[in-house]
Amino acid sequence: MDYSTALTNKDCLITGGLGFIGSNLARRLVELGARVTLVDSLIPEYGGNQFNIAGIEERVRVNIADVRDEYSMDYLVQGRDFLFNLAGQTSHLDSMRDPYTDL
Ligand SMILES: NC(=O)c1ccc[n+]([C@@H]2O[C@H](COP(=O)([O-])OP(=O)(O)OC[C@H]3O[C@@H](n4cnc5c(N)ncnc54)[C@H](O)[C@@H]3O)[C@@H](O)[C@H]2O)c1
Repeated sequence: MDYSTALTNKDCLITGGLGFIGSNLARRLVELGARVTLVDSLIPEYGGNQFNIAGIEERVRVNIADVRDEYSMDYLVQGRDFLFNLAGQTSHLDSMRDPYTDL
């Protein structure tokens, strides 16, 4: 399958889009001609940062929202061709201490 054209003009939503993996994925999708929306809560302890999308900020939409807010997410997922879920926290220790937040 030729992935380079499969994503052209496709509407993509990336949760955790201002984090490490999400923002790098956003760069690639923009290069491939996709329409890209990023959702991120910018919770201070996590890796999200506007700097991660430096250079592509005019080519993506950014929505500051928490994926646990089902009303926002119900709206944001509508009409998308692809959803990439990369929102999350990265600390194994924190997930052991506080599994409820991850759940
Ligand atoms: N980086 C790695 O090598 C690696 C390896 C294995 C798994 N992962 C997993 O992949 C995911 C992304 O990792 P990363 O390295 O990009 O981390 P990151 O911290 O750089 O990015 C995660 C993003 O998710 C956002 N986020 C967290 N909770 C959110 C919420 N409730 N609503 C909306 N946004 C939220 C954060 O603000 C952050 O921008 C994580 O779940 C991580 O555990 C990462």
